[in-house]
Amino acid sequence: EKGNYRHFMQKEIFEQPTVVAQTLGSYLRRSDNSVALPQFDFDLSSVKRITIVACGTSFYAGMVAKYWFEQFARVPVDIDVASEFRYREPVLEKGGLALFISQSGETADTLAALRHCKENGQTIGVIVNVPTSSMAREADLLLPTHAGPEIGVASTKAFTCQLAVMAALAAHMAVKKGLMSRAEEQEVVTHLLEAPACLNAALDHDEDIASMAHLIAPARDVLYLGRGPDFPLALEGALKLKEISYIHAEGYASGEMKHGPIALIDDEVPVIVLAPSGPLFEKTVSNMEEVRARGGQIVLISDAEGLEHAGEGCLATIEMPRVHPLIAPLVYAIPVQLLAYHVACVKGTDVDQPRNLAKSVTVE
Ligand code: M6R
Repeated sequence: EKGNYRHFMQKEIFEQPTVVAQTLGSYLRRSDNSVALPQFDFDLSSVKRITIVACGTSFYAGMVAKYWFEQFARVPVDIDVASEFRYREPVLEKGGLALFISQSGETADTLAALRHCKENGQTIGVIVNVPTSSMAREADLLLPTHAGPEIGVASTKAFTCQLAVMAALAAHMAVKKGLMSRAEEQEVVTHLLEAPACLNAALDHDEDIASMAHLIAPARDVLYLGRGPDFPLALEGALKLKEISYIHAEGYASGEMKHGPIALIDDEVPVIVLAPSGPLFEKTVSNMEEVRARGGQIVLISDAEGLEHAGEGCLATIEMPRVHPLIAPLVYAIPVQLLAYHVACVKGTDVDQPRNLAKSVTVE
């Protein structure tokens, strides 16, 4: 039931503080701020390489997690979209860990990739929202997200819950490998536990986003830019906008702009810049200046400090709470989801059932 919401997608966006808290609750222990994963008879400290396979939004969650697995656990990560994975003859060393991320647990390409990895001696980890799904049944390590049923075709709350699970998994792996001290683990857990309140603070800007959606709705093309773990968020923002508003959108790593896409910039192409304060902020701002110098219309999504520093002259700004870089990808998911949602509402498209799309893609 939609309750007071106009669409399932809107309801699911607003459920995120609750369902992310639920999901974190089953992977983190509040009493001593530690990570507590389900027991499995698999030694996470022995993992030498992780292969991540998924599709669509779940794939972008995997891209964010790659930064975390490499940063915290120092494990190299290969990541592919499922439809490409099997056909590139991936090298799978015995004893490797393969992670499959899926809301539905039924996506045909991802399931086929899972079976391929199983046949090739990989331990199968599954991050899935439907506990009775095919993927859940075939998992060696089952890591459920507790997002509850996701009805809107555009995935929203499953994504932030997938991120929550993988942040906990990456930290746990780092602890097992002796790369994260007890104090560092407590710090990571403290930041993760701040996420639900920060998601709420991000949702408080819903009306600001609704009131600027008419600026984006007439566009033919939109670019999204981000750096580091927020680069996959740019891809996710572009996917959300395409799916439900039918506006052509592309996500780019901010630094890659000057290698081609900058040729597209003129005053009719809005450029959505995701730039939380932090170590990558200045670099992103200088990429933003390159866009501005060519007449690009910028929508800057940042915190108060970032907006104060770089917000002048933008077409619009969206303020986010100031957050630790670890949880920025969860928090910045909210404005990109809401922006796509409100633009679609302005355009009057069918938000929950966009044309040509199915909730779960069960054909290869
Ligand atoms: O159920 P899954 O997570 O395996 O689905 C993967 C994609 O089909 C899905 O994320 C799709 O891209 C969504 N429509 C994105 O909003």
